[in-house]
Amino acid sequence: MTRSTTRIAHLRAAGVSFVVELRTPVPRVLHWGEDLGELTDDGLAALALSADAASLHCALDEPRQFTVWPTQADGWSGTPAQEGHRAGTATAPRVTMTGAEESPAALVIALRDTDAGLDLTLTYRLDPSGVLAVRTRMSCPAGAPGPGPYDLASTTALLPVPNRAQEILDFTGKWCRERSPQRGRLAFAGHVREVRRGRPGLDAPHLLTVGVPGFGFRTGEVWALHVGWSGNQRWLAERLPEGAGVHGGVLGGGELLTPGEIRLAPGDSYTSPECYFAWSAEGLDGLAGRFHTMLRSRPGHPSSPRPLTLNTWEAVYFDHRPERLLALADDAAAVGVERLVLDDGWFLGRRDDTAGLGDWAVDPQMWPDGLTPLAERVHAHGMQFGLWVEPEMVNLRSRLAREHPDWILGPSAGLGPSSRHQYVLNVAHEEAFAYLLESLDGLVAEYGIDYLKWDHNRELHEAVHRDAHGGDRPGVHAQTRALYRLMDTLRSRRPDLEIESCSSGGGRVDLGVLARTDRVWASDCNDPVERQAIQRWTGQLLPPELIGAHVGGPRSHTTGRVADDSFRLITALFGHAGIEDDLTARTPAEREALTRWAALYKEVRGLLHGGRVVRGDLADDATYLHGVVAPDAGAALYCWARTETSVPAQSGRVPLPGLAPGRSYRVRIRTEAGLPSMHQVVAPAWYRAAVEDWVPMPGTVLTGAGLPMPTLNPGQALLIEAAATDTAH
Ligand code: GLA
Repeated sequence: MTRSTTRIAHLRAAGVSFVVELRTPVPRVLHWGEDLGELTDDGLAALALSADAASLHCALDEPRQFTVWPTQADGWSGTPAQEGHRAGTATAPRVTMTGAEESPAALVIALRDTDAGLDLTLTYRLDPSGVLAVRTRMSCPAGAPGPGPYDLASTTALLPVPNRAQEILDFTGKWCRERSPQRGRLAFAGHVREVRRGRPGLDAPHLLTVGVPGFGFRTGEVWALHVGWSGNQRWLAERLPEGAGVHGGVLGGGELLTPGEIRLAPGDSYTSPECYFAWSAEGLDGLAGRFHTMLRSRPGHPSSPRPLTLNTWEAVYFDHRPERLLALADDAAAVGVERLVLDDGWFLGRRDDTAGLGDWAVDPQMWPDGLTPLAERVHAHGMQFGLWVEPEMVNLRSRLAREHPDWILGPSAGLGPSSRHQYVLNVAHEEAFAYLLESLDGLVAEYGIDYLKWDHNRELHEAVHRDAHGGDRPGVHAQTRALYRLMDTLRSRRPDLEIESCSSGGGRVDLGVLARTDRVWASDCNDPVERQAIQRWTGQLLPPELIGAHVGGPRSHTTGRVADDSFRLITALFGHAGIEDDLTARTPAEREALTRWAALYKEVRGLLHGGRVVRGDLADDATYLHGVVAPDAGAALYCWARTETSVPAQSGRVPLPGLAPGRSYRVRIRTEAGLPSMHQVVAPAWYRAAVEDWVPMPGTVLTGAGLPMPTLNPGQALLIEAAATDTAH
C-alpha cells in the first residue's frame, strides 16, 4: 500500500485534540483525546504513520482503518455509520470525500455516496470547553439515481476510544428514580441502548461513559457520549476483537429511526441530532466540567439569578380553589419565593388526570374570574408567574379530541392503550401546531406568564399518522422536530419567556430540548435520600442552575419516607431551588426555617450557579460529599450527607475537592438550614469549632490531608463553607 501525503486537520481546545487525516477516498480519525500539542508537519506525519495497525490472520490483507464514516467498505464489521437502501439496492454505502473545510473550531467534511445518490456533510465542532459535537446532514440531490427514494435506516456518529477504556457507566431508572447508574466491564461486542419511548425516558442513558478501570469522580481517563435529541435514539459502546483500526473500540450515537421513517427523494435532506463527545483525564468531574462550561457559554443560558420557585403540585394537586391558591401565593411571597408556578388543574374540565388535556383555556367553573386574580396577586408580590402545560398531549375526554380526532397520533386500525389516560397529538400536523402555538401564546400574553412548566407524561407508542394516500407513516422524528419548532417559535415571539422541561419528572433531560428550555424538572421525587443520587447524576451533564430541586413536605409524597427539615433544605439548595409544599399548613417555626433557607439560597446562588461542581470519591456508598467551588477556588460550599448507615464508625479524613492546595482558607459550618444529628457522642473538634466561627485551614490540609468528617445519622446533611483568606495568584 502506498501512503499519500495528505492534509491533516488538527482541532484543539481546552486540553483536547481531535485529528483527522483528510485522505481519500475517506478521511480517517487519527486521534481523539488528550491534547497532543502544536504538532509540526513531521509530528502529524508521525501520528499518521503510527495510525496503521498490524495486519491480522484471516483478516483484511491491509491494516484496517478507522475512518470518519466507518462502513464495510473499510472492512469495518462494527456498527456502521450508515445503513439504508433504495428499493433493496444501494445497501453497501461507499463514500468518497468531495471536500473539507477546516477552521480552528470546526472541521466540515463533504462526502458523496454515488451508489445511493447521497451527499453527506459531516460536521465536527470542537467547543472551547473541549466537547466535540458531531452532526451529519444527508441530502438527495435532484437527479439522484432511482429506483425510488433512499430509505435511511440509521446514521451513527462514531468516534474511537482506546483499549484501556474497559469499564462502562451509563444510566437507567424509572419514575421517581431517574439516572440510576449502572456500571461494569465493557465486554467485547456492543453495549447498545435503543430508546423507543419517543422521549429520552426515565431510564435514559444520559451520558454513556467508558474509562480506565476504576475511574472515579476525580481521577481516571474517561470518554463520554450524549445524544442531544428528545425523540428515539441509539447509543452504543462497542469493542471488537480486531479493534477499530489502531484504536480499541468506539462510542456511537444517533437517532433511532423506524423503518420507512426517513425516505430521501430528490431534493430531500435529513439532519441527524447533534452527538456530544467528551474526554477527560480527570474523571467524571472533568467530564461534567466540560459540559457545564459548554452549556454556560451559550448565549441563551439563563443568566439572571435563578428565582426561588414555589410549584403548587404537591401543595394542592387538583384542588384549585382560587382562595386557597391566593393564600399560598401570599405565604410564598412571605418566605421569599420569587416565582410561583401554577401546576396541573387549571384548564377546561381538568378535575383529575382523566380529562381536559388539549383544551388550553382556563376552566370557568374553577376560575370564574380567570387566572387574572392569581396572576395579579403573584405579580403584585414581585414574583414571576408560571403555568403548567402539556401541549403535546390530549385526553379523549376533551373538546379537542372530539373536534379533531385526526390530530391524534395512532394507526388507522385504531388507538392503542392509553397511558395516564392520554394520547399524543401530532404536533407536526400544521393545524394542530397552529392551535398549540396560538393557545400558548395567547395564555402568555393574557396573564403575563413568565414561565411555562412544559410537561410530557406519556411515551409515544404507535406514533404514526396518515399520509396523503391514507397510509400509516412513522411520526416520532417529525414530532420531535415539530416540538422544537413550536418551542422556538413561541420563544421568538416571547423572548423573555422561560420554559422548564418536565416529563413525568426527569423523562426529557437532553441537550436537544435544553437548547430551547431553561431548566429541567429532575424528578417527581422530592425525598432527599433519592434526590441526593438523582441530582448527583443529573449534574453529570447539567450545571446546578438548570436542575430544578424542591423542598417537599416532611413526609415524601412519592416514597412515604420522613426526612428532617435540614436534610430536605440542604439537598434542595444544590440546584435551581424551590418549594413544593403547602406553606399554609406549616407552623410559624417551619416557615421561619424556610425563610432563613430562602435567604441562604439567595446568598449562595451566585457561587452555586457559576462555580465548578466537585464530588468526592468516598469509600462508602452511603455518604455523599459534593460541592461547588468558585472558578478562582476562592470560595466553596460543600454538602456532606449520609443516606443510610454503614459499617465504619469513623468517617476518617476526607479531602475537600477542588480547592487550591497553595492557598489559605478558613472554613465554617453554615447553620441556617439547621444542623444534622450525629451517630457519635461528640463530633470532631474542627467541626465543633467551625459551628461557632470560622476556622483557619491551609489549602493543603483541606485538599491533601482532609478533614475528619462527623459520622452523621442516616438522612442527615451539613453544609461546609470554605473561603480563601489570601488573594488568588
Ligand atoms: C407530572 C409532573 C409533575 C406534575 C404532574 C401534574 O407527573 O412530573 O411534576 O406536574 O405531572 O399532572
